[in-house]
Amino acid sequence: MILVTGATGNLGSLVIENLLKKVDASEIAAFVRDAEKASDLKAKGVDLRVGTYDDTSSLDNAMQGVDKVLLVSGLDPNRYEQHKNVVDAAKKAGVQFIGYTGVSMKDIDSATNKFMGSHFQTEDYIKASGLNYAFFRNTLYTEGLPLFLGEGVFEQGIFLPAGEGKVPYALRTEMAEAIANVLAGDTNIKETYEITGAEAVSFGEIAQMLTDLSGKEVGYVSPSRAQFEEVLKGAGVPDWAIGLVADFSEDIRDNQHNVAFDHLEKLLGRKPADVKSVLKGIYNL
Ligand SMILES: NC(=O)c1ccc[n+]([C@@H]2O[C@H](COP(=O)([O-])OP(=O)(O)OC[C@H]3O[C@@H](n4cnc5c(N)ncnc54)[C@H](OP(=O)(O)O)[C@@H]3O)[C@@H](O)[C@H]2O)c1
Repeated sequence: MILVTGATGNLGSLVIENLLKKVDASEIAAFVRDAEKASDLKAKGVDLRVGTYDDTSSLDNAMQGVDKVLLVSGLDPNRYEQHKNVVDAAKKAGVQFIGYTGVSMKDIDSATNKFMGSHFQTEDYIKASGLNYAFFRNTLYTEGLPLFLGEGVFEQGIFLPAGEGKVPYALRTEMAEAIANVLAGDTNIKETYEITGAEAVSFGEIAQMLTDLSGKEVGYVSPSRAQFEEVLKGAGVPDWAIGLVADFSEDIRDNQHNVAFDHLEKLLGRKPADVKSVLKGIYNL
């Protein structure tokens, strides 16, 4: 039995969708906070196990009869403690393997976005547990680009303090397919996969792609962090959102996410989608 957490989220639900093509639904369990949100999974024959990462008894119940777990990382400030609860429950219940969705980064110690450190802490905790594992160090989602580019990208251009730093974006849909391939296979492994696209691109290059695709001139300005914060504050954007985008942008500027590997291509058995063709689809160009 394979238990997928975060099963009502974007990535977890896509992993289950892909797993259903490879294994019988009776072999899949979904860990969800809200059973109602997962009624479609139930209808497909997936076993629902309700709980949260904070509730250790719900995790103990969820692990019954499970051989493999995919732990989809959370977003709460205490996620490291939450992830530890999942690993502890898995070990206690005799689970053999844990997959974990972390992040692909060059050097967490010099990163601006310190929250990402909890991914590497979780990996260390899983390693120390002695269980078999696969770490899926996911790059930034190509589907997430519109959040960085902003709603008025074709009118106002791109405005981010990301310099000429590059990211090998990859599709969340393809990450899910690759993760399902690993989960459905022989998991007597201890592997780290850097789940990235084949080619890293900068926001300057993305602006050029959007210009080519739309026929409209899309510019790119990279302000200082202080200028960026001032302009967004003036536009009424909440402080937490400004801080989050600025932290990501600074790490992009410093090429923290610029680590392109062929692991995703190998796990998919084909080249991952390139950023330009994905942008074409997202913006219907
Ligand atoms: N690589 C990237 O670009 C990128 C971007 C954003 C996030 N991420 C990371 O990757 C993860 C998966 O991405 P996603 O797009 O699938 O995010 P998502 O749609 O927000 O899914 C997160 C899932 O985790 C579940 N969850 C969160 N806290 C939980 C808790 N305390 N107990 C139990 N379940 C909990 C959520 O449950 P509900 O369905 O009940 O809300 C949801 O199903 C994110 O959580 C985040 O850590 C990566």
